[in-house]
Amino acid sequence: MAKSAGAAEREQRPTTRRLQQMVRAYRESGALMAAVELGLFTHIAGGAKDEAALTRAMGLQPLHGERIIVAMLGLGLIVRDGAKLALAPDTERFLVKGRPTYAGEWMLFTKPDWNEWGRLADILREQAPPVLENKTVANITIEEARRYHRGTYSIGRGAGRLFLNHVDMTDKKLLMDIGGGSGAYCIEACKRYPNLRAVVLEMPAVVPVTEEFIQENGLTDRIEARVCDFNVDPFPEGADVAVMASNLPMYGREAIAAVVAKAHAAMAPGGSFHLIGEALDADRSGPADPAMWGLAQAINNTTGIAHSVAEVEGYLSDAGFKNVTTSEFIEGILQRTAGVK
Ligand SMILES: C[S@@+](CC[C@H](N)C(=O)[O-])C[C@H]1O[C@@H](n2cnc3c(N)ncnc32)[C@H](O)[C@@H]1O
Repeated sequence: MAKSAGAAEREQRPTTRRLQQMVRAYRESGALMAAVELGLFTHIAGGAKDEAALTRAMGLQPLHGERIIVAMLGLGLIVRDGAKLALAPDTERFLVKGRPTYAGEWMLFTKPDWNEWGRLADILREQAPPVLENKTVANITIEEARRYHRGTYSIGRGAGRLFLNHVDMTDKKLLMDIGGGSGAYCIEACKRYPNLRAVVLEMPAVVPVTEEFIQENGLTDRIEARVCDFNVDPFPEGADVAVMASNLPMYGREAIAAVVAKAHAAMAPGGSFHLIGEALDADRSGPADPAMWGLAQAINNTTGIAHSVAEVEGYLSDAGFKNVTTSEFIEGILQRTAGVK
C-alpha cells in the first residue's frame, strides 16, 4: 500500500536521535576510560569471565560492578558468549594489558583535558590572544612527559610500522623526526633498516623520555634524541628523509609553514619530507576527528587549528618541495602529505 503524504513526511522529519547520542557521548568516554583504568578487559582475558568474578577482580562492590559491566556490554566493547563474558575484537587486540598491541595508555591520553571540555563555551568566549608556546609540551615535568609518551608510544609503534609500508627507505641514511616524541617512527625504521640512522627533535622535557625508549629498544648507537624546539631552534643538516607526525593541529598556519620551510632548507637534495597530520579535507568540512583536534587547542589557547590537506600541500610547495601529494594514512584520522627536495 502506498504511504500517505503525511507518513512519508513524518519519516523524513529530523529526529533528536543523533543529537541525543552526541550530547551524552561524554558518558561513553568516561565509561571506556574507567574500564581501562579498572583493567576490565585485562581481567576478562585473564579468566574473570562471569560478572561476579570480574567484579571481584576489579575490586568493586557488586552494584558498581554490574553497572560498568552492563555499560561495556551496551557499548559492544564486551559481549556475552553463552554464560561467559568475552571481549570484542578491538578490545581483545588493544586493551589487554601485557600484550604487545596494548594501547590503553593512548585511550587515556587526552584525559587531562576532561574538565576543560565541560567549560568549553566559556573558554571560547575568552578574548586573550593565542600563544605560540603550547603548554601541553613546553615546561612539562618529566613525569608528565612519561605519561604523555607512554600514550604516544602505545599507538605510535603501529603508525611507525605503517609508515614503513608507505615509504621505502632502502637507500636512506638519515631520518629526521620533527617532534618525534617517543621516537616510535625512528625506532621502527631503524629496526627495519640496519644502515639507517635517525635524529628525534624534541622539547627539553621530552628528550630524556625519548632516550629511555631508544635505550629500551637497544638503538642508542643509531638514534639521537636532540633538544630542539622546532619553532625556534635550527634543524640538523643533511637528512635524506624527514617525518613530522601527529602535531599538526598544535600550531597555526604561520608556524607550521615556517617549520616545513626550515626542514626544506636543512634537508639533503633529493630528500623526501612527510607530514603526517590530523588534516581536514580540502573543503574544510570534515572529517570530525581532525576538527575536534583543532577545537581542543582552544583549551590551552594555543595558535593551533585544524589545517586542511590543501593548506598542508601549500606549506610544502611554498617551501620548495616538489611532487607534493597526499594519501590517506589512517582513515578519517591522519593524512600523509609528502614532497621531495
Ligand atoms: C602527539 S605527539 C606525536 C609524537 C610522535 N611524532 C608520534 O607520532 O608518535 C606530538 C609531539 O610533538 C612535540 N612537539 C610539539 N611542539 C614541539 C616543538 N615546538 N618542538 C619540538 N617538538 C614539539 C611534542 O613534544 C610531542 O612529542
